[in-house]
Amino acid sequence: MALNKKPYKGCRDFFPKGMRVRNYLFHHMCDVAEKFGFEAYDGPLLEEVDLYKAKSGEELINDQIYSFTDRGDRNVAIRPEMTPTVARMVANIHKQETKPIRWYSIPNLMRYEKPQRGRVREHWQFNVDIFGAPENLGELEVVSLVIQFLKSFGAKSDMFAILLNDRTLVDAVFNDILNLEAESALKLYKVIDKAKKVSPGKLDIMIREILLTEEQFIIFKEYLALNSIESLTKFATQNNIAQKSESFIQFLTMCQELELSEFIEYDPTIVRGLDYYTGVVFEIFDKHPDNNRAIAGGGAYANLLKIFNEEPLGGIGFGLGDVTLRDFLETHKLLPDLSKASHDVFVVNVEDEHNLYNMTISNQLRELGIKVESHLGKIKFNKIFKLAQSKGHSKILIIEDQGDGIELELKDLTTNKNTKIDINKINQIKDYIKG
Ligand code: HAM
Repeated sequence: MALNKKPYKGCRDFFPKGMRVRNYLFHHMCDVAEKFGFEAYDGPLLEEVDLYKAKSGEELINDQIYSFTDRGDRNVAIRPEMTPTVARMVANIHKQETKPIRWYSIPNLMRYEKPQRGRVREHWQFNVDIFGAPENLGELEVVSLVIQFLKSFGAKSDMFAILLNDRTLVDAVFNDILNLEAESALKLYKVIDKAKKVSPGKLDIMIREILLTEEQFIIFKEYLALNSIESLTKFATQNNIAQKSESFIQFLTMCQELELSEFIEYDPTIVRGLDYYTGVVFEIFDKHPDNNRAIAGGGAYANLLKIFNEEPLGGIGFGLGDVTLRDFLETHKLLPDLSKASHDVFVVNVEDEHNLYNMTISNQLRELGIKVESHLGKIKFNKIFKLAQSKGHSKILIIEDQGDGIELELKDLTTNKNTKIDINKINQIKDYIKG
């Protein structure tokens, strides 16, 4: 039986066309991270399952993880996320490092999910994390970075929103106001997480299954309706949780002062599914009705290093997927046309005897920093232009011999200009090509 030519379900082959887009996205990721002083790191594809069991949460462990027992009887998993790995790596070196530690990476991750728009089994995720930053400043840095990142593609504030909340505040609502037991609090976390995905009637039914008194129900609905710093401040004061919401309100105010308000919104339904978050949490949503989904998610985690018996060192970061980013850019027409390769010049010869001369001159041009595709072997004159166009070349250097020695002609398909090049002065080509 013939083997299947398709990649494994939910995974992608990256043919050169797809790879051009991927490189374009990765280039923007590295560029913005380095502009903000972050350094690149990477970790292994496999980790011990226990690393995720410690704090990644039920959904990831029960439904999404790819795990197996290796030949040495170790229970290992293909990384489904990067945060536990970066925390493990930071746990090794944080005592010697000056703080804050700012690291980024673009790992491929695997999750056993039902493939659909925006969801695959293998994706690449831009991870940006800061450890040991002063209160709220790491959060501000990370939020500023992601805004600049999306702006670098031309995105505007009417295209995306950063929806923010704070787990300390949610815990205060659950424990101090609603007096919930741990089990009910966990259930209510899950309900909040679904708040936008179910109808208001269904949401009320789900809430009432957990909150048994009318008073609890009313206060919780009041919480869910909060939508501004002002309404949150009033709610926190009235319900005696002002102290626990102070840091978050200060953070929102700092966002205003940094003039980030047009990009951010306080949203009490953002809680995030991963267990390790302890402070500010956020998701970035596409505002376009055709692609109304999260492009990225992140938050602050104060205690992740404790699982390695290290003293707590707070981290804050986010993960942004390549698939959701591409969908966002395509929906808003922010992705340039990358359907063709981008070489500077296509070098061709029409006689077999110039095959090696073509290679020689191409190598000389490459040494001048020019990106050259050299056609291997002769090509008929009347086929040159069609071939060049199909490959996306706009400049062609033709090697010919009309009887009195080699002649070089540079043709610019965009301007229709032809220029004779002196074979002893090929440096000149650089000026014509680089403009
Ligand atoms: P997450 O919300 O699980 O967070 O994933 C972050 C982003 O990765 C999502 O918003 C989405 O863009 C992308 N993503 C996740 N799963 C898939 C999938 N199956 N297919 C396509 N894209 C996907 C985390 O993973 C946290 N560890 C992020 C983080 C870093 N928090 C702090 N630092």
